Amino acid sequence: ENQSATLLKQDYQAAQELYHHILMRTQLGETALNYLHQRQLTDATLEHFQIGFAPDQQQMLLSFFQVKQKETSELARSGLFTQTDEGKLLDRFRDRVIFPVQDQSGDVIAFSGRILQKPDPQRPVGKYLNSPETEIFNKSKTLFNLAAAKKEIRQQGEVILFEGFMDVISAYQAGVKNGVASMGTSLTEQQVYLLQRITQRLIICYDGDAPGLKAACRALELLQSTSLEVGVVILPQNQDPDEFIKSQGAQAFSQLVHHKSLSPEAFMIEYLSRQYNLNNDLEKVDYLNAALAYILPVQSPVQQELYVEQLAQHLNLPSSTIRQELQEQQKTKK
Ligand code: GTP
Ligand code: MN
Ligand code: MN
Ligand code: MN
Ligand code: MN
Repeated sequence: ENQSATLLKQDYQAAQELYHHILMRTQLGETALNYLHQRQLTDATLEHFQIGFAPDQQQMLLSFFQVKQKETSELARSGLFTQTDEGKLLDRFRDRVIFPVQDQSGDVIAFSGRILQKPDPQRPVGKYLNSPETEIFNKSKTLFNLAAAKKEIRQQGEVILFEGFMDVISAYQAGVKNGVASMGTSLTEQQVYLLQRITQRLIICYDGDAPGLKAACRALELLQSTSLEVGVVILPQNQDPDEFIKSQGAQAFSQLVHHKSLSPEAFMIEYLSRQYNLNNDLEKVDYLNAALAYILPVQSPVQQELYVEQLAQHLNLPSSTIRQELQEQQKTKK
């Protein structure tokens, strides 16, 4: 590894320690600490993830590094600062909770910062702000919590993929410690490659809203061509894993993840049923055909039968009718 990358990692490590100290031990961090406690995170959890707070100051982190006599060019390269037109450096993260992101060896390579307020549609500021890509941070090759969860993932033979950092953290606190999340983007091939090297099985546990279901559908497409065995958990409408844990408890969440995941086919039958108006006969036929496309290639007759029954329930038709249709389509396929 080159000298420059080593220096940047040291900068991120130092910044993480400072932000964490500010959150846990100073008056400046008090509001943020209350916010996190209100979200029911314990101090042990905040310690485990080394969560921090960047106060609302333009050059707090900059002064910290200037005292250490850091070179400006290095600081500019780090992504920890933004640069004005006049070339002045300003702290990139201000008034945000800081989630450190590690690479596979556990070195801090980026931050994600969350505002303390509820997102305001009037204000053009994102709820989360990520570090920009740098020589040490490539977001499509990074999974939040992968380094820390690796051992747990290996032991359980399974990884759980979440949408949000808060979901990973909340699940961890609820005892489900094999979770990771992508960087607010859809799952990439490189991330799948990283996971395939340490596990055989992946559970998708995205938000229970329309974007979450759609993202799960896209992830399944990507995962189709891999050797990973895949399950999908569908959360109640408009809950994410963090909210589910708050409303239903840790036990219910663990049950859901370990015993109620759907196969990709069962997920698609469910997902597609929500894309059509099943009170309309024409749309019913469209749904039937879309869903049958997933059932046709299934080898096991028992599995196929279970999917036929699931489909029949959605269509409110006798399963014998669906079976007939399936057999017809199987014939024409041959
Ligand atoms: P909380 O509101 O803190 O519970 O966050 P969440 O994880 O539930 O967020 P949400 O479901 O809205 O989004 C899922 C993930 O998308 C987040 O964890 C982020 O990684 C990413 N994301 C959400 N909002 C933004 C944003 O404004 N900017 C960026 N870059 N990423 C975002
Ligand atoms: Mn500490
Ligand atoms: Mn969401
Ligand atoms: Mn969410
Ligand atoms: Mn959330």
